[in-house]
Parts: sequence; structure tokens; C-alpha cells
Amino acid sequence: LNPQMEESASSALRPAACRAKGGAPGFKMAILGAAGGIGQPLSMLMKMNPLVSVLHLYDVVNTPGVTADISHMDTSTVVRGFLGSQQLDAALTGMDLVIIPAGLPRKPGMTRDDLFNKNAGIVRVLCEGVARCCPDAIVNLISNPVNSTVPIAAEVFKKAGTYNPKRLLGVTTLDVVRANTFVAEVLGVDPRDVSVPVVGGHAGVTILPLLSQVTPPCSFTPDEIKYLTNRIQNGGTEVVEAKAGAGSATLSMAFAAAKFGDACLRAMKGEAGIVECSYVASQVTELPFFATKVRLGRGGAEEILPLGPLNNFERMGLEMAKKELNESIQKGIAFMNK
Ligand code: NAD
Ligand code: LMR
Repeated sequence: LNPQMEESASSALRPAACRAKGGAPGFKMAILGAAGGIGQPLSMLMKMNPLVSVLHLYDVVNTPGVTADISHMDTSTVVRGFLGSQQLDAALTGMDLVIIPAGLPRKPGMTRDDLFNKNAGIVRVLCEGVARCCPDAIVNLISNPVNSTVPIAAEVFKKAGTYNPKRLLGVTTLDVVRANTFVAEVLGVDPRDVSVPVVGGHAGVTILPLLSQVTPPCSFTPDEIKYLTNRIQNGGTEVVEAKAGAGSATLSMAFAAAKFGDACLRAMKGEAGIVECSYVASQVTELPFFATKVRLGRGGAEEILPLGPLNNFERMGLEMAKKELNESIQKGIAFMNK
């Protein structure tokens, strides 16, 4: 594959100086796993983002087709495709933001941790590429189990001597997107007007929605709290079961990743006051990684915000979340140090 194939036909016709180069000043970003269920719609959404001047699509299969297709969208973002491990470095060189949705999805009956054996190695190799080719890029990591893959990525960057905890962000936005949707349904309001902090991690009981901190302020009955907590914690499984073997959430995940990626890009550009939940290196609890609200800035997660006041139910949930999270974090670190 010629990585620049979509540009080459037209460049033969006119000198470069006469052609619109696309990409008004903006950021260069790569999607690793771009031909997958998340990767394809995410690539489309990032091609629509005016902050992205150059979009690199990398996968081990099918990127020529996905790239040809997406490159016909008449937005200014220049799209280039990269296929196979020998093109990983070219895909990553010069990137400001790297979003990683590469790896196997769940089937019914599996936990996210059941993906560890396959996905840990994929994340390791891709992050080694980031360390080699764009060590200053901000990384948004989607591949499951996120609770373990983020610690794996951190270890890769530490070994390479490029680790900056502010630049490594585990994507938990789908939990927030789901929480906003389900809470809005119960309240009978527009989900765009609701904001639910979701902390902890991204699997089962580690997904901890803070319903006492919903904005606009509101209250729930004990039955509503039980229903909402259970639905938010099991939103991923709800989709896996509905897809019945055909994969896990892809479209809502692409939406969530595009939302989070856009927040990172706006912050990188200097927009102030951008706060999103993300699973990051943290001192909010005794665990080395934890998802809370973070203030995004030019360098990534500039400030990790505190948990805020929890009620008894949330305090109990926090203890359960920490126990499981600790095991997942240790498993990720051990994978890199065996
Ligand atoms: P998919 O199987 O449809 O796509 C995965 C893509 O990754 C495929 O195109 C595959 O070729 C590619 N890939 C595999 N190995 C690769 C490698 N070494 N380098 C580059 N690309 C490689 O799966 P999907 O539905 O898109 O899900 C991808 C991952 O995202 C899964 O691990 C899933 O569990 C996870 N996920 C996370 C969240 C979250 O909230 N963080 C939500 C949904 C899914
Ligand atoms: C999700 O929350 O939808 C993802 O983590 C995918 C999954 O396996 O549930």
C-alpha cells in the first residue's frame, strides 16, 4: 500500500503549490485498529473534526479500503492509510494524538479480563511504537481490559524512558455517555443536559457512577439508584448479549471516543476549563491508577480532580471497586515485568 495513495493521483495533475493542501492548522492524529468495529466509525468522526489536519489510519487488515472510502469525505482533513506492522512507524511518526481501539472484543459469557491474553500483547507492541515514533503524543487507550491495558502502556513507556503520566488516558467516556443517557431517561430530560461523574475503572463493579453528584442536582429513590447503578455497570454486557456473538459496543464507543478525542484536541489547542472522566495515573486513592474527573490541558491530564463527597452507598461501591481494580492493575504490571 502506498500510504499516501489518496493524494498521489491528484498530485500528478498540478504542482503542489496550486492545490489546496487540506488541513488548515490543526493536529496530526493516528487511529490504531482503524479497520475495526470501533475504528471505522471513529475514523469517520475524526475526519469530520476541524481540529484534525492529518488522520493516519493503521490496522493489520483492510486499511486500504477504509482509507479510500473515508478520504472521499469533503472535509479538509488529509487521510492516509497504513497496513501491517512494517508500516506502524510511518503511521505514528509526527503524531500529536494517538487513539487505540485495536484488539479483540468480548463475546457473550466473557469478562473483559478474558481478553487480557490477546490484547495485552497488542497494546504492548503498539505502545512500543508510540514510544519510538511519537513519544510526546497524547494517547487515548480504548482496548480492553482498560483496567490492565493502561498500566501495561505505562510500563512500556517507563521502560522506553518516555513515560509522562499526563499523556496516557484510559477512555471511560462510554460509561459517562451511558450514565447520562440512563439517568436522563429516568428523569425525563434531554441527556445533553445531564452530567454524571463515573469513577473507578472500566469493568463491572469498578464502574462507579456517582449519582449523588449528578448535575443538574437531583435526587433518586433507593430503587432508582439500584436500577441505574446496575444498568451503568452492565451497559457493555447489555450490548454484548444483544449482539449475540457479533462483538461489543462499537457505534456508541466510536461516539464516546470521538467526544473524548475532541475534548483532548480542544485542550491541546489551549481551550480552558475542559473536564472529562478518564482512567489515569492518580493519587486520589491508594491505587496507582483510577478514573475520576480530570482537567485536560495542552499536555493532557493537567489536573486530577478529587472524588468529592460520597454517600454511604457510593463508599461501599468504592471499596468493592478498589479491590477488583487493584488485581487488574497488578496483573498488567506483572505482564510487563515477567
Ligand atoms: P474489532 O475486532 O471489530 O476491531 C479490532 C481491530 O483491531 C481489528 O480491525 C483488528 O484487525 C485490529 N487489530 C488487531 N490486532 C492489531 C494490531 N496488532 N495492530 C493494529 N490493529 C490490530 O473490535 P472492536 O469492537 O473495534 O473493539 C476493539 C477493542 O475495544 C476491544 O478490545 C474492545 O473490548 C474494546 N472496547 C473498549 C471500550 C471502552 O469503553 N474502553 C468500549 C468498547 C470496546
Ligand atoms: C463496553 O463497555 O461496551 C466495552 O468495554 C466493551 C465490552 O466488552 O463490554
